[in-house]
Amino acid sequence: MRNGAQRQSSSGRSRANTSSHDLQAVVAGLRGEVRFGAPLRDYTSFRIGGPADVLVIPVDVDDLSRLIKQAHAAKVPVFAIGGTNLLVRDQGIRGVVVSLSRLKAIKDESDGVIYAEGGVVMPTLMRHAITRALSGLEWAAGIPGTVAGCVVMNAGTRLGEMKDAVKAVRVVDPLGRVIDCPANAIQFSYRRALLPRGIVVGVWLQLKPAQREKIERVIKEYLRYRKNTQPLTLPNAGCVFKNPEHNTAGRLIEAAGLKGARVGDAQVSEKHANFVVNLGQASAGDVIALIKKVGRTVEQQTGITLELELKIVGQP
Ligand code: EPU
Repeated sequence: MRNGAQRQSSSGRSRANTSSHDLQAVVAGLRGEVRFGAPLRDYTSFRIGGPADVLVIPVDVDDLSRLIKQAHAAKVPVFAIGGTNLLVRDQGIRGVVVSLSRLKAIKDESDGVIYAEGGVVMPTLMRHAITRALSGLEWAAGIPGTVAGCVVMNAGTRLGEMKDAVKAVRVVDPLGRVIDCPANAIQFSYRRALLPRGIVVGVWLQLKPAQREKIERVIKEYLRYRKNTQPLTLPNAGCVFKNPEHNTAGRLIEAAGLKGARVGDAQVSEKHANFVVNLGQASAGDVIALIKKVGRTVEQQTGITLELELKIVGQP
């Protein structure tokens, strides 16, 4: 999913304390939506998270470039959120949070190549590929994340992963410049991608012609599997931990007797132990306490240290 968060700027330039004057300068002249103090719980699949100092939804890549340049000049940090493989802390995120939800164009190029803007969500992209009888994204069936989020974390399932289809990536760098980066310059590994610094705003995907019925059959079967094994009806952020080598986090957590364990309204799913679900009013603090308990118990019982897949961001 992760879809996750992309961190912009840094290079020692960003400042922790941002005045409202700085923020006004950062958002001056933007054409997209600007919301001061936006509660990030409204923008995450977990339905958890404190406020952003300011949330911006740029209308296009030029609008985003302008924002990045102005943020750089004011030394204000910028985070891009997809929102699905993400836990935002209760104190929220200082500086600018960017949502790419208006970057939604999909363009067909030649020979099975599709360009998708970063804010396109995987179900929409998959439907687009199906109608053109193009195969290569079936693994993503049921993943609610954005294209950009899936690239940044090299999202995947047992059927495949993002890197299998990526041909090139378009990034807006910390100076607001648009850079296109071919896949062979990106180091992908299990749920990781080493990309140029900046915000992913679009991806070229190389897909393969296939029979539409065959693609649909694979997707249908896989969606059924997910529905039977994952808690899709409660707010969650996908798998919490990466699978350790030769094992799965879900199996280890279940064997440790933790299915159903709770802190406040955060619960280890009864259906799949590698998911934490929000039963209603869970705070980020509840989720973090629960995750720590799970990690500690599994380590005590098996000696295996689970590594987080979930990305935790925001003010500690
Ligand atoms: N299992 C248990 N108990 C559980 C859950 C699973 O014993 O509570 C066992 C299952 O019985 C099975 C094995 O663990 O033998 C694997 O389970 P599953 O097929 O559900 O897959 P997973 O390894 O737990 C991975 C991805 C999922 C993806 C599924 C299906 C990771 C960390 N997780 O889960 O991705 O949906 O395969 O393809 O790689 C995500 O990335 O957010 C995510 C959920």
